[in-house]
Amino acid sequence: MRPLSALSSFPAFAIALLCLFLASCGGSVDSPGAISSGNPDPGIALVQARFRTPPMGWNSWNTFGCNNSEATIKSVADAIASNGMAAAGYQYVTVDDCWVGGRNPTTGQLYSNATTFPDGIQALAAYVHAKGLKFGLYTSAGTNTCAGLSHGARPPSYPPGVGAGSLGHESVDAQTFANWGVDYIKFDYCGGSLTAFPAMRAGIAATGRTMYLSINPYSANATLPTNFASDGTLYVPAYADMSRISQDITAKFTSVTSIIDISAADAAWAVPGYFNDMDMLEVGNGMTADQDTAHFVMWAMMSSGLNAGNDVRTQSAATQALLTNASIIAVNQDALALQAVLDTADSSGSLQVWTKPLSATGTRAVALLNRGATAAPITVKLANLGLTGAVQATNLVTGASLGSVSQSLTQTVPATGAVLVKLTGTDPVATTGSLAPQTPVWSAVQSGSVAVKVGPEGAALPVGTSATGAVVVHGTSYVDGMTVNAPAQIVYRLNGHCTTFQSDIGLDAAAQGAGSVDYQVWADNVELYDSGFVTNSTPVKTVRVSVAGRNTLRLVVTDGHDGVTGDIADWANPSLVCS
Ligand code: GLA
Repeated sequence: MRPLSALSSFPAFAIALLCLFLASCGGSVDSPGAISSGNPDPGIALVQARFRTPPMGWNSWNTFGCNNSEATIKSVADAIASNGMAAAGYQYVTVDDCWVGGRNPTTGQLYSNATTFPDGIQALAAYVHAKGLKFGLYTSAGTNTCAGLSHGARPPSYPPGVGAGSLGHESVDAQTFANWGVDYIKFDYCGGSLTAFPAMRAGIAATGRTMYLSINPYSANATLPTNFASDGTLYVPAYADMSRISQDITAKFTSVTSIIDISAADAAWAVPGYFNDMDMLEVGNGMTADQDTAHFVMWAMMSSGLNAGNDVRTQSAATQALLTNASIIAVNQDALALQAVLDTADSSGSLQVWTKPLSATGTRAVALLNRGATAAPITVKLANLGLTGAVQATNLVTGASLGSVSQSLTQTVPATGAVLVKLTGTDPVATTGSLAPQTPVWSAVQSGSVAVKVGPEGAALPVGTSATGAVVVHGTSYVDGMTVNAPAQIVYRLNGHCTTFQSDIGLDAAAQGAGSVDYQVWADNVELYDSGFVTNSTPVKTVRVSVAGRNTLRLVVTDGHDGVTGDIADWANPSLVCS
């Protein structure tokens, strides 16, 4: 690794000399760590995230299924408002499937089941609002709701819901929901059409009402690949605030762990304002206390939505305490909104360390997850996290201080359980010069790893060379950079002392074919730059943005919305100016 001091003192004449040797110094940045004077790419119009942290609430399905009613929802809202859950952050009370009575053939509007929801949805939403809570409602992306398809899922007397899905009615349903006071739409695929999802987002926008769009492309959709966003027909983060990533959860630890693994594979897709939804919680629904803890801890760590799915009116003191644990919730609601990634696992894969940086510099949340059948010690090594200095540890489940940590922390973790720890120390902070050799605090790549290429300083790299670190974009060789398989993300701490970030961007010379990506630069979860569609034939662009006063820099390369993933994308000569 090159010393950073050498970068900042890299003489201008040497840079000029280097340019003479390189194929293209014109519009691109060929000097590592320097900021060029040319005009940067303006990028495309930015759409800021609507909701920057995962949603919290409650959903009727896991406990009540189709045995759902207005009276039940009201009493649940009463409980959430008064039992400490509202104060802990749970706000959406969502009526899942089986509220629909049918669609009025004259007005085209949905109406509720007259037996179970006699006062109608508008009155129910008003009741929930009067409790200081927000109201959520289910609909489906097909012609039927999901339970309308499956007769076994509903009482024999219940209407089949045929014709009562939102497919083809997205605009009118969004307007009906807005009129009723809906704040959150759970939009379930269930044999419908993926096109209904963006149509609903457009319908929501047309109403002018803020309504969270939580989609599930999976139900009754066996053909969708595990990593949903690689399906060429949809790029979910463009229109959903949150998307399910799995088939339905059950109150079994194997279900919990299988969803953790799917979410881990999808980590690089989640961007600020778009989260991987690991499904409604099964806390309090029959797993052991340790399993419930592990489940809740991992949903918090992976920045999933936290929608309780138990009967909160009758929950045990232990369930109540877990669901309202402010320290665990703070990990989920942290402003940096990163998803945890796997740090280490033992050879059996049972004993795992998951980690994510929190917004305060030098802080990490660490989950020690034991998926095995016996209690076992699990160790997190500070060197893996890049934390230095005097590191303090706190158990976030119990609140107990674990004292100062030197090199590593070991905790005994119960079988099928987890310990959640907060570590506070000193982070690597980015400095002036080339970013390539600097240490990020977090990265997520769907496949492979972030390849950091640092060329020999001052060397002229022949065009087309990729040996010893040259980054080659469209025939231009760069001294250094990061090469990633998209989607991929890298986060650095800036701690407010940098002013400018610059990088050239483009698909790597090694990427052939129909690949496409979208580059984004975020700082403190504000998007500063979006390249739009970049393909193999897009000329090299230069990104230059002000990062003045920002604490974090997040470099994102995501899918170019064509469903082709694994594109090899470069951040070429990425550079920072800091004080
Ligand atoms: C699907 C969804 C569940 C629930 C049911 C309702 O299975 O994945 O979360 O909404 O439909 O029928």
